[in-house]
Amino acid sequence: MISACFSQVRAGEPLDIVKVSGSQSCMTSGCHGGAGLDRGAYNIWKRYDPHFNASATLTNGRSRAMARQLGIESAAESKSCTICHSPMRQVAQVGSAASAEVAKVDSGVSCANCHGSAENWLLSHTRPDYPKDALARLGMRPLASAYQRANQCVACHQNLTDELVDARHPALVFELDGMLVAEPKHWREEKGFSNAKTWLVGQAVALRETAAQANRQPNERRTAEIEAIKALLKATGSGWDESGKDLVSSADDYAKRISGAPMSHEQSRAMLAKLLAERTPFQPDAFSVVDKKYRSWAIGYYAERLALAVDRLNQSLIASGKKKVIAKDVLDELFDAAKPPESFDDATAEEFVIKLDRVAKSQLDTAPGR
Ligand code: HEC
Ligand code: HEC
Ligand code: HEC
Repeated sequence: MISACFSQVRAGEPLDIVKVSGSQSCMTSGCHGGAGLDRGAYNIWKRYDPHFNASATLTNGRSRAMARQLGIESAAESKSCTICHSPMRQVAQVGSAASAEVAKVDSGVSCANCHGSAENWLLSHTRPDYPKDALARLGMRPLASAYQRANQCVACHQNLTDELVDARHPALVFELDGMLVAEPKHWREEKGFSNAKTWLVGQAVALRETAAQANRQPNERRTAEIEAIKALLKATGSGWDESGKDLVSSADDYAKRISGAPMSHEQSRAMLAKLLAERTPFQPDAFSVVDKKYRSWAIGYYAERLALAVDRLNQSLIASGKKKVIAKDVLDELFDAAKPPESFDDATAEEFVIKLDRVAKSQLDTAPGR
């Protein structure tokens, strides 16, 4: 069985010939190249997953325009793009024929970019009794909890350098729960999976990463974004506290704590109610630590993430078997009112609050009893 799966490895052979195992080492039909959820990870990824084609994006018109702006000859060859869109390219630089082959087949975001390079766990992971923490020590990245997943996904889904922002790369707004829903799933979620918790952990990790990036590349835009996420966490009433430590560790601790504790239906509902009732971020004196010129951006960042939050928390209530609490058309209006943060001003903020009032009212109308 094992040798059928990993035909590149013969018993007794040193494992480093598969130094970087590409998707090819996962795709045989007895392993992950079959049909259905249990054996179909490879086919789901290849057919439906946006990551499979992530490198093709680098040759489209928009990428060419960005490359020109950056003075890059070819986006598909430049590390400033391949690091996220075609990460196996780095592997090709190793120089062996096997690694060149891997980089060719796995030109997009591959299994190893989420699960870790399989060189040391390829054999062990087929044994159902092999302890997960031992596999983790061999380099298989744990992805079970919201915190663990956030740490993998955020690396490519939140941080853009100033240069890429200026070259008009699409803005990256890390929202873990929606992303996991959008991802064509090749796994089953455990019973008790909470969209609300996944959302909240994702926001805390987005804050941590933005704060860390602000330490490297400080600017007012980032300050505005950081203050917006902080305001959002605070508004959930779920115990966000940054006193005492630096922001990066506060956000990390908080993410871990939320991820590790169960989140009940009642807690999710309470968070949604608090977020819908909070108006402080829209007051004139809100975000006073942000440079005056960028305060409306902070409100815009807040509005953008709040609309996503309301959607995810609503989804969480639906998923836990409750009736839909917010009507789709009112929610759509809220999304429409969340204009690009950089274009926010008094008028757009006012418009957003009107829509928010409407959502809050619709929730009160339909929420049964509590
Ligand atoms: C930090 C990781 C990261 C880097 C670096 C990066 N991208 Fe992206 N890029 C993404 C992600 C994630 C998306 C998907 C955004 C979404 O839809 O939410 C994306 C989306 C895009 C899109 C829009 C999708 C489409 O189909 O048109 C283009 C174009 C693009 N990237 C080009 C580039 C180019 C060119 C570079 C280098 C100059 C680059 N990217 C560097 C992560 C990155
Ligand atoms: C974008 C990131 C990503 C990519 C790319 C990816 N996976 Fe996954 N995979 C995940 C996540 C997240 C889980 C859920 C893990 C969990 O809940 O423990 C998962 C789960 C799995 C599982 C189920 C594990 C279990 O214990 O239930 C298998 C098998 C798997 N992936 C194989 C693959 C293979 C093979 C590829 C490439 C063809 C691949 N994955 C590509 C993120 C990814
Ligand atoms: C190695 C970098 C990398 C990692 C790690 C990664 N992604 Fe992506 N992801 C990308 C890029 C690049 C794109 C844009 C694909 C394209 O060019 O259209 C993307 C696109 C997506 C999309 C479609 C666009 C969107 O935002 O709706 C989803 C959904 C997604 N990723 C989910 C995830 C999730 C969930 C994880 C973690 C389990 C993850 N990704 C980890 C690089 C990555």
